[in-house]
Amino acid sequence: MVVARSVEEFGKVRSGWKGSVGFVPTMGALHEGHLSLIRRAREENERVVVSIFVNPTQFLPGEDLEKYPRKKEADRKICELAGVDLLYMPTADQIYHEDELRIEAPKIRGYILEGASRPGHFDGVLQVVMKLLNIVRPDHAYFGKKDAQQLALISQMVRDYFLPVEIVPCEIVRDSDGLALSSRNIYLSPEERRRALALSRALKRAGKQIQAGEREAEAILETMRQVLEPEVDELEYVAAVDRSFRAMKRIEEGDTILLVAAWVGRTRLIDNLWV
Ligand code: PAJ
Repeated sequence: MVVARSVEEFGKVRSGWKGSVGFVPTMGALHEGHLSLIRRAREENERVVVSIFVNPTQFLPGEDLEKYPRKKEADRKICELAGVDLLYMPTADQIYHEDELRIEAPKIRGYILEGASRPGHFDGVLQVVMKLLNIVRPDHAYFGKKDAQQLALISQMVRDYFLPVEIVPCEIVRDSDGLALSSRNIYLSPEERRRALALSRALKRAGKQIQAGEREAEAILETMRQVLEPEVDELEYVAAVDRSFRAMKRIEEGDTILLVAAWVGRTRLIDNLWV
């Protein structure tokens, strides 16, 4: 495995490659969720690139940029064992320039739900993903459904800017107790972790209610609130949207995503269910 730190180093290795390239962008502190994306990329491509970059522009003032978990050595090992060809770990001054052009998230879909709680977050995500896609020039780029709105917006950017890459959505990986894996789960105390299970439990119960025939979105969201409110410290939102993130009043199987964002202690958690 080659480790590249600059665009030039990366370009040199990349230009010698033939065949398809799969790309998994991450912010590191790799867990089984990331690994499932890497494995899929490994299966579907001749070459696999993973990037690790804790992107400052997607953190809002007061968020956890400084204390976001960083595990360089362990991450490098994980990538090596997973058969990654190239690990790209740029520094911020490699990626960002002074007074540069900006990609802006769409005014509606970029500013509801996660975008309402974290205004400007998706501008930063799209800015860095645009750059990384242009540096890596992959055939396929792999993103988790865990960050469903991020996935939808990146897919939209690829469409709107005619980027020559296929975005591959990947299933959410969960712990055996149901908690969706996240680099931020390590912030949870044992007691908070137990309460955090309300997120996946609410989605599971909603899923069962839909299977039993309920189609009214408001009834489903009310079920979710009833499971969540006794357990979490602050419920930011529950929502039902279609795959392009338009709000929906009636659940449509094959097109609906149920979403939740909540605080447990000082940790903000998100989860969702694709119905
Ligand atoms: P990060 O949070 O490190 O996640 C990297 C990728 O792993 C994302 O596509 C995310 O959806 C996926 N992922 C995380 N947890 C997962 C889980 N439990 N199951 C399946 N996939 C999971 O998302 C980012 O980084 C950044 O915003 C990034 C796209 C790299 C831009 O900076």
